[in-house]
Amino acid sequence: MIRLAIQKSGRLYEATLALLRAAGLDLPNGGPQLRVTARNFPLTLYLLRHGDIPGLLEREAVDLAVVGQNLLREADSTARELEALGFGHCRLSLAVPAERPYAGIGDLKGARVATSYPRSTAAYLEGRGVRARLQTVSGSVEVAPRLDLADAVCDLVSSGSTLLANGLREVETVLESEAVLAGTAAAVGDVVEELRFRLRAVRDARSMRYVLFNLPDERLATVLADLPGLKSPTVTPLAEPGWSSVQTVIPEAEFWPKLGALKQAGAEGMLVLPVQNLVP
Ligand code: PRP
Repeated sequence: MIRLAIQKSGRLYEATLALLRAAGLDLPNGGPQLRVTARNFPLTLYLLRHGDIPGLLEREAVDLAVVGQNLLREADSTARELEALGFGHCRLSLAVPAERPYAGIGDLKGARVATSYPRSTAAYLEGRGVRARLQTVSGSVEVAPRLDLADAVCDLVSSGSTLLANGLREVETVLESEAVLAGTAAAVGDVVEELRFRLRAVRDARSMRYVLFNLPDERLATVLADLPGLKSPTVTPLAEPGWSSVQTVIPEAEFWPKLGALKQAGAEGMLVLPVQNLVP
């Protein structure tokens, strides 16, 4: 039975459960239970405080965890990052009061910097030859300058609205982060591989769209020359002579520009569908 730690509340919680369920795990609703066993997969889920997860992985109290890279880096974790999961994107950033002039990292020499990420912040500043005075706080970091406890902060930024609401301006990115599946050195074997395979299939599918459209045959060569596909698009003749149906998958990032180009090239009756799983 694999022991998988996940955040019990907070930003990664919903997305993590949704991912595991999309990967076919039948997980009863936890309610107040902090331990939930999948009905159809040899895995027990432990719902834990996010900040505790790196330490529990380190001690091998759990085998695997869905956790932010930011916490693993801060803990200087020896856990292996097995799969990037494509959600929970954020960055650890230095920010200063919006009205404070900022010409570069040298401006932070001697500054008081409030953070919940002292190790990552110190490594970034020391790596640039800047000695600052770190003030470690466990939350509400952004309010520290207003309390005159700090001249700058180093905290997680996702949408940027917390910085904005507290009159702060982001000036340096210390690290980029997303949710990952992390594992201890002992987390190997068929069940772990099966879980990784399923998580990859769901993650990769989410970034793709399945697109079907009709196209006059004389446009096929031009359109196909510039159309992605897993190997290549599928082309099937329509009942109406001179027309074909084209089916392919398009990465989400290229999706809107491609759709516009296809329309211009004469595509009609376009259907766009989500991809549930993708196995390359
Ligand atoms: C995080 C982080 C920031 C905020 C940034 O806190 O510490 O305060 O989110 O997000 P934004 O850029 O979208 O405004 P969170 O709400 O996750 O709670 P925490 O204080 O428990 O970390």
